[in-house]
Amino acid sequence: MILPATDADRRLAPAVRLAPAKVNLTLAVLGRRPDGFHDLHSVMVPLDLADRLSVSVLPPGSEDSLHVEGFDPGPAADNLVARAIAVARRHARAAWGRGEPPPLAARLDKRIPVAAGLAGGSSDAAAAVDAAVEAWGVELGDETRHRIAAELGSDVPFFLAGGPALVEGRGERVTPLAWLRDAPSGAEPARPGLLVVTPAMGVSTPAAFAAFDAGAAGPGGAARLASMHLADELRAGLRIADLLARTSVLAAANDLAPAAAVVAPGLVGFKRALLRLLARPVGLTGSGPTHWALYASLDEAEDAADRVRRAVADGDLPAPGGTDPFVAAARILARNPDPEPARDTATRREP
Ligand code: C5P
Repeated sequence: MILPATDADRRLAPAVRLAPAKVNLTLAVLGRRPDGFHDLHSVMVPLDLADRLSVSVLPPGSEDSLHVEGFDPGPAADNLVARAIAVARRHARAAWGRGEPPPLAARLDKRIPVAAGLAGGSSDAAAAVDAAVEAWGVELGDETRHRIAAELGSDVPFFLAGGPALVEGRGERVTPLAWLRDAPSGAEPARPGLLVVTPAMGVSTPAAFAAFDAGAAGPGGAARLASMHLADELRAGLRIADLLARTSVLAAANDLAPAAAVVAPGLVGFKRALLRLLARPVGLTGSGPTHWALYASLDEAEDAADRVRRAVADGDLPAPGGTDPFVAAARILARNPDPEPARDTATRREP
């Protein structure tokens, strides 16, 4: 017999979120700011390549815990999920009204490579704030959520937009963008496929910005123009064919690419080999090392992913980093994904 869930059951059910990866279709660095950060102009899109986070309330007197499976995110002390929960707790005190909101157990299934330019850690942090607030049953206003996100990191506010967005300032100014307009309203929106290939090496974002400041920059202005154009065209309503026609411009529109090549010189030969293999434009997301190629559909991106895996296996695509690169075909999302029907919802804890 199935009994209806009670309020107590709902409190015990973990809050589950999918935390999507992002790709920068464009990334213009406009200049260094007095605070040491850089002003950006970037069109960012979420992918259905996502980490999965579940958060549940622990009995009073326990401590926050974090269990991670999948890619190793590095030292627990640096983990953005743990920091996000601590910062969210600080901001949730007033809404909770009875001292500290209770400790949480977080489980993170990391499917997005780490330090890859895909902002997995930042996405986990945004998801953790959202899941923590749901687990505690408190409300936080949009302004507070935005302040928390900006405090956690430059890439975090993007994930509050829930879809493609123009990102400016240090990362804190996020303007949602309309996505492609092929599908009639109500129908499944058109979704191009993206191939992502991540050599097995991290590129440090601060090191890439430092190399940029030291002069590792391409001819100024082209990435900015391409980025402004793309944002304007998406606002006006772009079709998938128009987006594909612009891939070579977009693939070149990353001001951090020369800096990434200084920090990780192996990326230069790797990109050249990937270009030869795929025979289409290849872009870099963030400060790398993940490269992307855009396709009209997920099927086409999957064929390309198979080709890359075969070339790696046959030794025809030497990738820096010692071990095989991460290769995936993903969809660009018009909206953030809903968590799949969860494996671990609504289980009653043993007393
Ligand atoms: O904000 P976040 O901690 O993710 O940034 C990591 C580093 O990347 C910063 O310490 C800074 O060196 C660099 N950064 C920057 N300008 C930005 C974003 C990041 O210089 N807009």
